[in-house]
Amino acid sequence: MVKPILSTQNLNKVYPGALEFHALYDMNIDIPVGQFVAVIGPSGSGKSTLINILSLLDRLSTGELIIDGESTSKWDEDQLAHFRNNKMGFVFQFHHLLPEFTCLENILIPYWISQGKPPPDIIDRAKQLLKTLNVDVVANNYPSQISGGQQQRVSIARSLINQPAIVFADEPTGNLDQASGAAVVELLRSMNAQFKTTLVMVTHDREIALKADRIIEVVDGHICHDFLIKEIGETKAREQLGDPSCSNVAKKEPKKKTKNKVKTKTKRS
Ligand SMILES: Nc1ncnc2c1ncn2[C@@H]1O[C@H](COP(=O)(O)OP(=O)(O)OP(=O)(O)O)[C@@H](O)[C@H]1O
Ligand SMILES: [Mg+2]
Repeated sequence: MVKPILSTQNLNKVYPGALEFHALYDMNIDIPVGQFVAVIGPSGSGKSTLINILSLLDRLSTGELIIDGESTSKWDEDQLAHFRNNKMGFVFQFHHLLPEFTCLENILIPYWISQGKPPPDIIDRAKQLLKTLNVDVVANNYPSQISGGQQQRVSIARSLINQPAIVFADEPTGNLDQASGAAVVELLRSMNAQFKTTLVMVTHDREIALKADRIIEVVDGHICHDFLIKEIGETKAREQLGDPSCSNVAKKEPKKKTKNKVKTKTKRS
């Protein structure tokens, strides 16, 4: 078996505070190097919470997150930031491009942060990424001067500039039309094939999820399905994703007590 690059052991997340909320329950996930994983599930089910923890943007409450064979529980902020900047790329639903920088400059920001002033070959890499993503014409525009779809492609180029080992994408196609959304997933796919980049992508869209290698379906903070599409076949995969028993997963398991627990309704997408 290929060595996992990311592993969780009994991962739980409880958001603290007056509205304390148990968002993830006992998750055990191994993600091998080079796998393309789609995380799907209803709104409010815990997808972003999970991806934020896996990508070191947020901390788990109990359990373990193991990256590249190393437990992250003792990592300090510097180690976390170092790993994030050098090994991880991020694509957000809302692109978070910095408005005062051009598109080309935005793409180079992760390089600036991790290694300082970009040399000419890195600038060429950024230009090549813009070209591959068909947004080279907007290289010198500011984010406010380009469309949402173009912004999304620029943010994908930015996530790839440091050639990260893992790319996390939270709803990367969420605000794109169908054709642009399909193109983005194609691009993620080809990057995965070319560079063996591990991909973890959150999506509401089953058709997009079916383009991955593996689907993890999260319902009410629990893993409801976790399968390799190739292993079970696309027809079975579609059936699994339509399976209404998922909404009972949380009810079957005993709830952990949390004080002032607030219930949130989830809707299947
Ligand atoms: N900072 C927070 N404090 C308290 N509860 C939170 C916090 N962030 C998220 N939650 C709750 O945790 C649950 C999971 O939220 P999360 O954002 O992970 O859902 P999601 O599956 O990504 O939803 P969506 O598809 O709408 O983006 C929700 O019930 C949400 O209200
Ligand atoms: Mg979300």
